[in-house]
Amino acid sequence: MINYQCGFGNQFVSECLPVILPARNSPQKVPHGLYTEQLSGSAFAMVRAQNFRSWLYRILPSVCHGQFDAFSHKTFKGHFNDEISSLQQLRWDPYPLPKKPLDFIEGLFTLAGQGDSELQQGGAIHLYSCNRSMKDRFFFNADGESLFVPQQGKLLLKTEFGLLELSPSEIAIIPRGVKFQIELLDKQARGYFIENFGLPFRLPELGMMGANALANPRDFLYPCAWYEDKVGDFELIAKYRGGLWKSALKHSPLDVVAWYGNYAPYKYNLKLFNTINTVSFDHPDPCIFTVLHSPSEIPNFSNLDFVIFPERWMVAEDTFRPPYFHRNIMSEYMGLIEGTYDAKEEGFLPGGGSLHNCMSAHGPDVNAYEKAIKEKLKPEYYGNVLAFMLESRFVWHPTKQALNCNFIQKEYTQCWKGFKKYFKK
Ligand SMILES: [Fe+2]
Repeated sequence: MINYQCGFGNQFVSECLPVILPARNSPQKVPHGLYTEQLSGSAFAMVRAQNFRSWLYRILPSVCHGQFDAFSHKTFKGHFNDEISSLQQLRWDPYPLPKKPLDFIEGLFTLAGQGDSELQQGGAIHLYSCNRSMKDRFFFNADGESLFVPQQGKLLLKTEFGLLELSPSEIAIIPRGVKFQIELLDKQARGYFIENFGLPFRLPELGMMGANALANPRDFLYPCAWYEDKVGDFELIAKYRGGLWKSALKHSPLDVVAWYGNYAPYKYNLKLFNTINTVSFDHPDPCIFTVLHSPSEIPNFSNLDFVIFPERWMVAEDTFRPPYFHRNIMSEYMGLIEGTYDAKEEGFLPGGGSLHNCMSAHGPDVNAYEKAIKEKLKPEYYGNVLAFMLESRFVWHPTKQALNCNFIQKEYTQCWKGFKKYFKK
């Protein structure tokens, strides 16, 4: 049984032993012989609402590690601007489950990226597929925050701040710099691992929707302090400047006995999202489905938005109900966690994904269109879907391996072949 603390970005307080947290942030001597360390996730003088830092009280400080050397990985990529790709619509089958033993790090496959981690803009989409826990190996991301979207298999995220158990239909965020290890709670696991190089995800503004729409702050769960006091031969892997690095460690870095602050990992159950939609006709724009928002310097022109299409009632009258044909300035990657997506009832599979970049035309396939213009409209519950979209002002660059892999759907655009001309003067 894992305990959590709730509330988005609260100033949490958590300790494993009594009376650890001192009255001062950094006293001369911490109870129980612990070391004090501050982890800052924002500029020191950032405005108060976006000022993130936590104080950690740990067995050994983070500086106790060896030299960093390059860590080679065949399918993990971190630089994207040298990849030239057309605005062709793309779709992939689910990333295959592993045939040999692979942990979370070993099973990563980079699909696409955008922007630049050094400029703190954009993000990356990786897929993971693994069948063994990370053993004697820990990871942290200096390039951005990490968003986990599991599609199959439960994970246990063991972090410096405590434990998060993560199931498909939940998401988790691990902030930039936080060390963690991933244990499998099922035989195998698959999902999406997304990096956000920009400003940390926050809850979107609600405007005229009022205080209670979309994701509710109380449903975001943060870990309680948990630690292990272990010595041994461990490996610390870091993502930095687009590459992976490794360093030797003689102790487990998950040794934080107490912490307080507002910079910590969290998880959220997507089934708790309060979905807003029309009760009359037409579609509001899909920003009404935004769970988390990473801003750019232009208000609401997002660096990255995490958007979901969950189970919901559809009641719109005299309306083409599936997503209509469209071309957007925003670039969209979509993934499917479970069920069937109404604009593509075939071919878009749980664990798969599709990419439609800036001004790339897309919309329902022929079958979905023909069905939608003929069906008798009545209130209907879409109970078998959980899809997500990563939407950005920056174009996604698919990697060469993503364009040439054996799970890309070469015939994807065939789904739009065969539209009839209905026009009559
Ligand atoms: Fe779209």
